[in-house]
Amino acid sequence: MNVRVLNGPNLGRLGRRKPARYGTVTFAELARSCEALAAELDLSVRVLRTDAEHEMLRWVHEAADEGAAVVLNPAAWTHTSVALREACAMLTAPLVEVHITNVHARESFRTHSYISPVATATIAGCGVSGYLLALRWLAARERS
Ligand code: DQA
Repeated sequence: MNVRVLNGPNLGRLGRRKPARYGTVTFAELARSCEALAAELDLSVRVLRTDAEHEMLRWVHEAADEGAAVVLNPAAWTHTSVALREACAMLTAPLVEVHITNVHARESFRTHSYISPVATATIAGCGVSGYLLALRWLAARERS
């Protein structure tokens, strides 16, 4: 199974960005953990990050064309982007929305997600382990 792990704005700064909230794991470490687990689970994974919305839209379009599953942390675009939601709505394989923090326990503007209504599943508040849980769930779902 092909899986894209896509990350939105500011997630490249993981490890340095508010470590008390987002943790000390860097984006490079997170990417390596996803790649290592994917190899164990026999998933083909690509971990990508961008601060540019048009690039994210292109990756989601490619995933739609290839029938790839997506693990997506849309970051701030969660709360702002109708365009990203409409791209995600074109996916045919499962989409797992991941948030490192529990967005429902934070500022009120974070409680609304444009993405959740078009996601297959949502994981929030498990730290960077949420990405690994998403990969495990995708692999288990494919086997069942
Ligand atoms: C986030 C939560 C968003 O509200 C925020 O804008 C982020 C990260 C998370 O992973 O907890 O950049 O998606």
